[in-house]
Amino acid sequence: MDDRAQAKDTAGRFRTRVFSGIQPSGGLTLGNYLGALRRFVQKQDEGIETVYCLVDLHAITVWQDPARLRANTREAAAAFLAAGIDPGRSILFNQSQVSAHAELGWVFNCVARMGWLGRMTQFKEKAGKDREAASVGLFAYPSLMAADILAYHATHVPVGEDQKQHLELTRDIAIKFNHDFGVDFFPVVEPVIEGAATRVMSLRDGTRKMSKSDPSDMSRINLADDAEAIAQKIRKARTDPEPLPDSLAALDGRPEARNLVNIYAALADTTPEAVLAEFAGQGFGSFKPRLADLAVSVLAPIGVRMTEYLRDPAEIDRLLGAGADRAEAIARPILAQTFDILGMVRSRRG
Ligand code: AMP
Ligand code: TRP
Repeated sequence: MDDRAQAKDTAGRFRTRVFSGIQPSGGLTLGNYLGALRRFVQKQDEGIETVYCLVDLHAITVWQDPARLRANTREAAAAFLAAGIDPGRSILFNQSQVSAHAELGWVFNCVARMGWLGRMTQFKEKAGKDREAASVGLFAYPSLMAADILAYHATHVPVGEDQKQHLELTRDIAIKFNHDFGVDFFPVVEPVIEGAATRVMSLRDGTRKMSKSDPSDMSRINLADDAEAIAQKIRKARTDPEPLPDSLAALDGRPEARNLVNIYAALADTTPEAVLAEFAGQGFGSFKPRLADLAVSVLAPIGVRMTEYLRDPAEIDRLLGAGADRAEAIARPILAQTFDILGMVRSRRG
């Protein structure tokens, strides 16, 4: 057996391997960047083995226009590259090119219970009032997500706060599988939810998550926005008339103010407390221009590099294909072992 696939060290413990994914269902936002992508780069730069996936099979749980999906997948890949993902050090690919995800997802549909999936808040939010009209895929989505992670025996999963419940379900699936079959085969993953911006809120409404699917473009900063758009969105972000306080507790009940402080802290790689120590007593008239300058200095170069990568979509496709080959080499043997454990007859010669 290929020990890379097994992902266990000599003591039989699972070796550290990071896996995470982002849906290519629209342009990536500042929320994706601070909550996920920037930390993907940090994990890679720490020298950990990192596997990153554009989860196109997840995207189609709600309607996707085929031409837009293709364009969004390439754009998301360009965003990863522009943000610092190095395809020489990380494995970067799109999910549908590695069929082990869908196959293991089916197995996990048979492990997860209806009750577990029915409790998922993301399903409830996305399905809305008319659950009868939601796709079966939207309901089963978390078992596919568990498959994404466990097909690599990944141990650590960096995500934003909104994915915590899905990761708990991934742990439950691994534990139930191991228990039902009397094996120690799937690792029980650790969520990595850290930093000042694990939940970036909308710039128009500090109680709602910043999202690529929000109908208002002014509610979010897109990684593809240019310097002028970034600065304008921050200038127009909803705030309150009070100056910034000197303690975090005093931001209670001021969700928009708290959000901008958190964004500043994350972009500056510091803490919200340190931001308040610097800006206490100042109003948004002076804070917003400073935040805009900071955001432009971090994000605008990423947007510029994205545009450069997008000039050569064939090169992006080539990189995703090469990444998928490397991903497959890890996932395929783990899937084969899973089928063995399940009792499937495995008799093909090829
Ligand atoms: P999605 O865009 O839903 O595929 O999310 C991809 C990753 O970005 C996940 O790890 C999310 O938790 C993270 N993410 C999405 N939106 C936000 C947000 N507003 N704040 C922080 N993290 C986010
Ligand atoms: N469900 C995640 C989201 O909507 C995306 C995702 C799919 C993911 N598979 C994953 C994240 C595996 C981490 C690991 O944001």
